[in-house]
Amino acid sequence: MTSVVETIAALRAQVQAWRAEGLKVALVPTMGALHDGHVSLMRAALERADRCIVSIFVNPRQFAPTEDLDKYPRQLALDLEKLDHAGVHLAFTPGVDEVYPQGFATAISVGGPSAGLETDFRPAFFDGVATVVGKLFIQAAPDLAVFGEKDYQQLCVVKKLCRDLDLPVEVLGSPTIRDAEGLAMSSRNAYLSAAELDMARQLNKVLRKAATALEDGADEASTMASARQAILAAGFDVVDYVEARESVTLAPWRKDRDGRVLVAARLGKTRLIDNVEVAAR
Ligand code: PAF
Repeated sequence: MTSVVETIAALRAQVQAWRAEGLKVALVPTMGALHDGHVSLMRAALERADRCIVSIFVNPRQFAPTEDLDKYPRQLALDLEKLDHAGVHLAFTPGVDEVYPQGFATAISVGGPSAGLETDFRPAFFDGVATVVGKLFIQAAPDLAVFGEKDYQQLCVVKKLCRDLDLPVEVLGSPTIRDAEGLAMSSRNAYLSAAELDMARQLNKVLRKAATALEDGADEASTMASARQAILAAGFDVVDYVEARESVTLAPWRKDRDGRVLVAARLGKTRLIDNVEVAAR
C-alpha cells in the first residue's frame, strides 16, 4: 500500500528512516494525471532503488498566466490507485503553501541547455521547473531521480542543474512511451478530440523521417523546412519549433555528434512536444 505524506517534515522523516536501514531511494517527480509513461518511470526507479517516492504537485511557477494551470487535469484518487498498483512506496502530495510558503522569493535559473526551443515560447518555464525540482531534490534527498525523455530539454536542464549545483542525485532519462501509432503519452493528450488525435499521431512519423534524412546526410535547413511543412499538412495549426540539436548540451547539431530532433506544435488549444534521436555519422 502506497503511503501518502503532504509535508516536507513527514517526507524527510520517512527518507531518513530508509537511509538508516541502508536503503537506496529514488524519486519520480510528476504533476499527476498519471499515465503509462509515468508508470514506466516508476518501473525504472523501482528496478534501480529499494524505495520509490512519487511526488505529485502541479507547480504553478512553471505555468505562464496564459497557460492551462487551472485546467491542468487533477485526479489524485485515481493517481494514488496507480501508484499502489505500480508498487510505489511513498506519494508526496504537498499543497502550494507547503512548497511556496508566504514570502517565498527564490528562483533557480539554469543556463546552457535551457536556451532556445521551449524558452523561446515559455520564457519562465525552466526557472519554474528548476526551482521546484531543486527543492524536491533537497527535500527528498534521493539517490536517483527518473525523468521522461519526452520532455527532453527538461531532462537536459535537470542534469545541468545537478552538475552545476553539485546536487548528489543521479538523473536518469527514461525512453518515451508511445501508443501503437507512435503518439507520445502525455497528460495533455486528454484535451484532444478524436480527429485531433489522428493528426497528433503524424507528429512522430514526421520527426522520424527527418531524423533518418539527417542520418543519411540530407541538408539540415531543408530537412527542417520539409518537416515543418509536413506537420502543418498533417493538420497542426502552428509549429513553434522543429530543430536539430546536439543531444547533451542542446547546442546546434553537428553531424559527428549524437543529436535529437525536437518539436513543439499546436493543435487547436493543445500544445504537443516530442523528440527523436539522430545518430552521429
Ligand atoms: O515533467 C513534469 O511533470 C514537471 O515539469 C516536473 C518535472 C514534475 C516539475 O514540476
